Amino acid sequence: MFSEQAEEYFSARGTVAKWWNPENNRWYKKQFEYFDYFGNFENKIVADIGTGKGRFAHYFAKKGAQGVYGLDISEEMLDIARRNAQRDGISGKIFFKQGNILDIELKNNFFDLICCMETLIHLRDPQKAVVKMAESLKKGGIIIANTDRVMLRLRIYRNIYYLLYWVNSCESLLNPLCYCKFLFFSKRLLSKLLFKPFPEMPYECESLDKFVSLRQLKTTKDTFEFLKQYPAADLLYPLDVLNFMPKEKFISLFSDAGLKIIKVIPEGHWFFPKGDIVIARKVC
Ligand SMILES: C[S@@+](CC[C@H](N)C(=O)[O-])C[C@H]1O[C@@H](n2cnc3c(N)ncnc32)[C@H](O)[C@@H]1O
Repeated sequence: MFSEQAEEYFSARGTVAKWWNPENNRWYKKQFEYFDYFGNFENKIVADIGTGKGRFAHYFAKKGAQGVYGLDISEEMLDIARRNAQRDGISGKIFFKQGNILDIELKNNFFDLICCMETLIHLRDPQKAVVKMAESLKKGGIIIANTDRVMLRLRIYRNIYYLLYWVNSCESLLNPLCYCKFLFFSKRLLSKLLFKPFPEMPYECESLDKFVSLRQLKTTKDTFEFLKQYPAADLLYPLDVLNFMPKEKFISLFSDAGLKIIKVIPEGHWFFPKGDIVIARKVC
């Protein structure tokens, strides 16, 4: 069941911002290629919904977009996004705003491109968000969004996914701290977790909260409790803030919002699909 506390989870400090570092991961790096479809960014007004640390917002600004609007519910993620934009000298082009996509007003017929990556899966009502984004696109505007496939609900599948995620991440191999994390993760995960539910995993070793366990709890409530005890722990999202959906349902979010589907691109490995990206256009 999707958590009523999901929004509280993402708004809180010390949660997702601790471990969400997609910039070193091959799968996530590849996502920039999908924006080639959009072509030229010059003079375009772009939105990045669920911008996180702003990797796409920064990219659009560097590609020459006239203005970029980055929305996120997490002030902690936005702090990092703003700092990085300042470092790269592009902060004048990006307007970062804290807010919930499900509540916030977006200007109608305004954006040329809306990007919503790795975010729909965290929403209580993804259809409402897609309708809102569709309304705020100009006629002819494009939306690019993704989600994860429903089979990631299966623990064994998810564990393999997280393993591949870390193997794919250069950071895990180059940074000694992350290597510790990986070793810890793999030892525990391979020997125990593939066959035992995550919440039963003992977290006996207090000093390890510095190294951080790549661990996933079932509920947001458990996660908040755990973080109270081990504030430095680096926990994956609790399972109840992941709103997995079948591919067909995901695609229908866009067609039901009146958008024309241009392309559906599978993500992940051919033998291990992660999810799908939808590229859709507002035709009227
Ligand atoms: C996995 S991160 C993805 C960040 C970025 N799009 C990327 O791909 O690097 C998901 C982001 O969605 C944000 N988020 C979750 N629920 C949200 C909501 N209701 N409204 C706005 N942002 C939300 C989270 O705070 C988080 O930064």
